[in-house]
Amino acid sequence: MTYYQHPLDVTALPAWQALQDHRARLQNFSMREAFNSDPERFDRLSLSSCGLFLDYSKNLITGETRDLLVRLARDCGLQRAIDALFDGEAVNASENRPALHTALRRPIGDRVLVDGVDVMPEVHRVLHQMTELVGKVHDGLWRGYSEKPITDVVNIGIGGSFLGPQLVSEALLPFAQRGVRCHYLANIDGSSFHELAARLRAETTLFIVSSKSFGTLETLKNAQAARRWYLAQGGSEAELYRHFIAVTSNQEAAVAFGIHEENILPMWDWVGGRYSLWSAIGLPIAMSIGMSNFKELLSGAYSMDQHFREAPFEQNMPVLLALLGIWYGNFWSAQTQAILPYDHYLRNITKHLQQLDMESNGKRVLQDGAPAPCATGPVIWGGVGCNGQHAYHQLLHQGTLLIPADFIVPVVSYNPVADHHQWLYANCLSQSQALMRGKTLEEAEAELRAQGLDEDEVRRLAPHKVIPGNRPSNTLVLERVSPRRLGALVALYEHKVFAQSAIWGINAFDQWGVELGKELGKNVYSRLLGAEQSTAEDQSTQGLIDFFRARHRG
Ligand code: F6P
Repeated sequence: MTYYQHPLDVTALPAWQALQDHRARLQNFSMREAFNSDPERFDRLSLSSCGLFLDYSKNLITGETRDLLVRLARDCGLQRAIDALFDGEAVNASENRPALHTALRRPIGDRVLVDGVDVMPEVHRVLHQMTELVGKVHDGLWRGYSEKPITDVVNIGIGGSFLGPQLVSEALLPFAQRGVRCHYLANIDGSSFHELAARLRAETTLFIVSSKSFGTLETLKNAQAARRWYLAQGGSEAELYRHFIAVTSNQEAAVAFGIHEENILPMWDWVGGRYSLWSAIGLPIAMSIGMSNFKELLSGAYSMDQHFREAPFEQNMPVLLALLGIWYGNFWSAQTQAILPYDHYLRNITKHLQQLDMESNGKRVLQDGAPAPCATGPVIWGGVGCNGQHAYHQLLHQGTLLIPADFIVPVVSYNPVADHHQWLYANCLSQSQALMRGKTLEEAEAELRAQGLDEDEVRRLAPHKVIPGNRPSNTLVLERVSPRRLGALVALYEHKVFAQSAIWGINAFDQWGVELGKELGKNVYSRLLGAEQSTAEDQSTQGLIDFFRARHRG
């Protein structure tokens, strides 16, 4: 295995300089005018791939912008980085390992070497193991302690062992197999356990303890709570194996917890948590939609992998999205990116992309430890349309911040109700249109005059009605949310995030920042239980500890 190293400070490249100059020249660029003067803008700035259509014409760009951004990607050695990712080089330099989620969706017969060993036979062996397990549950052959078939599967996991599986299984609810309901238990908050357990019967419930490390506090605490609940409901230690399985790369810890070896599905350290839904961490997805749909999901992601690896950057969807993000973050000072799915089934995609993007690219040093010379990952936020229109879209339209938005919308609804889908689609398009067009002062004044207002009123009200417009967005359209297209959609964003990390020269695959809170949490916990104050305690934390202790005293 060779080691991947970003070779340079991206801001020192001539292409970066050229983009800065170009940005200055675009200060008065108007999207409205660009559309008026170029009837081919939409055709030139849109593309289709893997069942997804991307319209990126509503951006603050010209053809020259795209060319300069593509030049930046080339000069950074992005193609070299993409090859390194797929070939299993140690793109995760701080942990000295590859990030091979793409291997999980490759077909039988492909070879991917990690430390000289081809991992593909093991990947397909585990897919086979999943197929058998899911088949047993779906066919009613997997029985609980009272010999009844399983009706409910509870995934106990957090972060990547929760968000991806939850997104996909809920997005693909129209593909759910009858007979098995899937639930997710992530937070350590006892209320989430309490509310869920109240709806379940232990004799027909199967728990999947899903943790790559098998060392995550929230997951272990919830797994212990589930076990106590199962025993209190009438289950026995001897029958535990009928109700608890695990997905982990730490088999020893899972066995120590009490899970039978044959009920443990492996994970590998070369798959990052937030990229793991394609592995056995996706078992709850397969429990919900069945293995053949799960394999369709993998094929969709695989088609996006091939597109990412092979398409020229000018027509490469993940690369274009990455470059647009860099354009706004580094050259227009945008600090956030909104993700706005106009589809009930995709309502959790924002949360998944939040972890994917922010845990990956929330980094302040380059692969070699030098400080990053420019802004890196943005804040990802948003939520399902139309709900957001009646809440935070006001700030998108008239606030002082520039917030690029990705709209995601299917053309066909699984549940047509009267003309609801036509209205949903219309709302999505009209939002991006309003962001782009805005309303000028003249238009606002004309509108007010048409309402019969006198000139003083017109002058007083018009500034409030002006909408600056020129606010950028992408629109991703898919026919409908199918396993294959969803696979492509999630892989699209995985590759976008990677392409950005490669251009900035940061490591998208570690997450050291979350560790400090975990360490300090242990100390605070022992103080809540009565341990003596440590000299390191600050006044604020100390005060808040005292508040808790006063309430729980005696
Ligand atoms: O604390 C962050 C994190 O490590 C994520 O990266 C990961 O997805 C999550 O915790 C869960 O980790 P595990 O699967 O090891 O329980």
